[in-house]
Amino acid sequence: MRVKPFVSWLLAVTFLLLAASGIVLYLSPVGRIAHWSGWHVAGVNKEGWQAVHTNLAVLFVAAGVWHLVLNWSMLWGYVKTWGGKGLVFGPVGAAVVLAAVFVAATLEQWVPWRWIQQGNDRMKAHWEERLPRPPSPHAEEWTVAELAQRLAVPPEELIQALEADGFGQSTGQDTLAQIASRAGQAPYQVFEAIRRRFPQAEQALQPGMGKGRQPGKKGQGKRLE
Ligand code: HEM
Repeated sequence: MRVKPFVSWLLAVTFLLLAASGIVLYLSPVGRIAHWSGWHVAGVNKEGWQAVHTNLAVLFVAAGVWHLVLNWSMLWGYVKTWGGKGLVFGPVGAAVVLAAVFVAATLEQWVPWRWIQQGNDRMKAHWEERLPRPPSPHAEEWTVAELAQRLAVPPEELIQALEADGFGQSTGQDTLAQIASRAGQAPYQVFEAIRRRFPQAEQALQPGMGKGRQPGKKGQGKRLE
């Protein structure tokens, strides 16, 4: 197999997959909503898409470096043909200026760059309205024992209730996420089953912590994941 075309194709395919997984992430709910509601695309949850995107990014960077090394003589040829000044005021200069404009415009939140961020915020708000919200961020990591303490009931009662609701045998150390995953359900479904049996959960746990990205300065908006 010839290495040069292989590396070029690797770069192209990785780029397309990066773009596809990046678009999925752009359209995804914030982490706390995604984890709690069991949000997924093509059977892969948000963490899975993040992992795919990050690992593809590593492959993309490695393939990019390899591609540069393989084509170095051609690249160096361009530099020599254009000469120092010609290059700076030619394609390289234009590329640097365009990228710099994008960075500055994003940080200054100019239109239409601001719209890209607002589109993302709107998607997050869309999910926030439609999907179940956790009583607090990372509530899916609560163990049965922690939840029992919050509800002021003995853990054995929770364990019995979960079994009666078809979630199988659990222990005090099992998290809501683990119980849900074993039952092929989402953490909020485990929680809803508990809420139905222990009405005091309503007062003890108020859902809906955090409200997406806060308006910030120069792109430093805070997002509660
Ligand atoms: C090809 C087009 C790409 C698109 C559309 C895209 C889009 C995205 C989006 C929407 C996110 C989530 C940001 C957030 O949570 O607010 C993201 C995260 C990320 N992107 Fe990309 N990306 C692309 C290419 C790349 C490339 C080329 C790299 C690196 C070489 C990269 C590295 C990353 C990393 C490391 C993250 C953080 C992953 C995480 O959430 O844990 N991406 N990208």
